[in-house]
Amino acid sequence: MTTTDPTHQAPEPLHRMFFEAPGPPRPAELPGGDPAWLVSRYEDVRQVLSDPRFGRSQLYAPDAPALSGVPDLVNDPDLMFNQDGPGHLRLRRTLRRAFTPRAVARWRPWIAAIVEELLDRLEARPQPADLVAEFALPLPAAVISRLMGLDESAWGRMRYWSEHAFSDGTHEGEQVAAALKEFSAFGAHLLTERRGTPGEDLISSLVAAADEEGGVPEGQLVTLVCGLVVGGHDSTMTMLGNALLYLLGERRETWHRLGADEEAAGRLVDRLVHLVPLGDDRGSTRHAAEDVEVGGVTIPAGAIVLADCGMANRDPEVFPPATLHDLFAPLEAPTLSFGAGPHYCLGAWLAGTELQLALHRLAARFPELRLDAPVDTVEWRTGTTFRSPQRLGVSW
Ligand code: HEM
Repeated sequence: MTTTDPTHQAPEPLHRMFFEAPGPPRPAELPGGDPAWLVSRYEDVRQVLSDPRFGRSQLYAPDAPALSGVPDLVNDPDLMFNQDGPGHLRLRRTLRRAFTPRAVARWRPWIAAIVEELLDRLEARPQPADLVAEFALPLPAAVISRLMGLDESAWGRMRYWSEHAFSDGTHEGEQVAAALKEFSAFGAHLLTERRGTPGEDLISSLVAAADEEGGVPEGQLVTLVCGLVVGGHDSTMTMLGNALLYLLGERRETWHRLGADEEAAGRLVDRLVHLVPLGDDRGSTRHAAEDVEVGGVTIPAGAIVLADCGMANRDPEVFPPATLHDLFAPLEAPTLSFGAGPHYCLGAWLAGTELQLALHRLAARFPELRLDAPVDTVEWRTGTTFRSPQRLGVSW
């Protein structure tokens, strides 16, 4: 379970978030007060995320406690993430081929070209410049747009939809519903367009794979496309903004090596993703279909389980505290920041590649880059379950 220092007015930077030590599964509460089980040790979290007896679809059964106050995209039962078993596999298969490490390796040159183009633009800007507006936002937006065959004119709407799709409950329900309706219409239109005139993009391959597979409900395909548009850029943008705040604000000693050694940059990205959460929300939620023993404790049938990946990523049995914050040390075991099991993040390789190229090349081109204000004065982009700096003023 996570906490932040209650004496602080502004939220703590995410890299400073405090995590209690993991322990055996124990009863806990959902944010709304409903009972749940907290699972926090590395092996226990892996088990919960991988064992088919712990599913997601039952979280949205009519009698289940509401996980969110507003009907956002993350809690849409049609979302691939919220499905289990053969239905989930069928949908995942349609997308999986596009997201293999081999496919991402083929995209690497044009991702690097986008990074360089953004760095050229940044270099020409007056100082101080805003690293969020110039780099952390446009890079993932440009990458997902190129993959999906969208142009820059869609970015404004993409941000608007993301803010509503991942609402933290501060938006009015009607406002979220209206934004999601518009977003679905956009997704449905894209599918129709690419079915008619297929191209080299991800949506065209998705349509072809779904038609070949047969029986994939159109509503699920639309939600998948919408989920990719927002999930494909928001998470990477959030990670990049928080990583830059941490590196430039508190880990400046890593900057030279980061710029000099691309392979070391890859290890640093693995550690950053491992250590810096995307937001304040804790845990990936599952539902126990039957009594299941986890770490010597029986979790009863019907229980809601919070698998706390942040606590598990700091389990001293697996990740020795001595190297936990050594950003160039290889991870001792796979991180749980991308989940595990059947819902393991399909974009993990893509996000890793983007982050590695972005941080390595930024540090190489701007060895003197520095933040213009102390870490504690940063203003946060809030209103969604993800949190990252609103702007990062830098000079070089
Ligand atoms: C640093 C960036 C990212 C992080 C930390 C992240 C994290 C996650 C996590 C924790 C899950 C749920 C896993 C589970 O509960 O077992 C997930 C699922 C998913 N992610 Fe990511 N993600 C990132 C970037 C991306 C990108 C760039 C894409 C797509 C382009 C993407 C697409 C997906 C999809 C489609 C799923 C659902 C998989 C399924 O339900 O089968 N993610 N991600």
